[in-house]
Amino acid sequence: MKLIFATNNKHKLLEATAKFHSSIALESLSELGFTGDIEETADTIEGNAKIKAEYIHNLYGVNCFADDTGLEVDALGGVPGVYSSRYAGEHATYQDNVNKLLKAMQNEVNRKARFRTCIYLILNNKHYTFEGMVNGKIIDTPFGTDGFGYDPVFVPDGYDKTFAELPLEVKNKISHRGLALDKLAAFLLENSDNK
Ligand code: IMP
Repeated sequence: MKLIFATNNKHKLLEATAKFHSSIALESLSELGFTGDIEETADTIEGNAKIKAEYIHNLYGVNCFADDTGLEVDALGGVPGVYSSRYAGEHATYQDNVNKLLKAMQNEVNRKARFRTCIYLILNNKHYTFEGMVNGKIIDTPFGTDGFGYDPVFVPDGYDKTFAELPLEVKNKISHRGLALDKLAAFLLENSDNK
């Protein structure tokens, strides 16, 4: 079965590809020929995942899913949350966002944070959601070169390395998106015609 992941983020695509059975041919937006931008105007991660999946489904009529992630920092009252990608402004880079976060967390003792992901799937015109979450802490100096986004400053509970230092297999096993993808992959296996 062909399934479109409504993203052009190569890190997310790698994480998803590692999870799926070979009967699922996963394709990204660029493989579909879509190069535009989908505005994320909802005020929840579920709302934004839904916007992205429905946009692609309405345009191409394909089975597809989209994800949206938020980083919730306790000491900042859950910020940046749904605004994680534009925390430092509309066209902020990952580095800008990390810098702003580290500044906001300067001298902060409570470093607790979590990533939360919602995946929104449209399969044969039916809609489903899958969620994943990982708890951890924000450290005060970035470490590691793998991954993306806030990975260099996030250390998951039970580990002493950031997501940007841990091998992809480890991040993908315990992360917000990895856990949501596990649920999606299990659902697809259960509901696939190729069983
Ligand atoms: P998105 O809209 O799902 O791409 O997520 C919003 C923002 O959260 C991204 O721009 C990244 O900065 C951050 N983000 C999403 N997933 C991850 C992750 O797995 N690790 C670190 N940061 C992430």
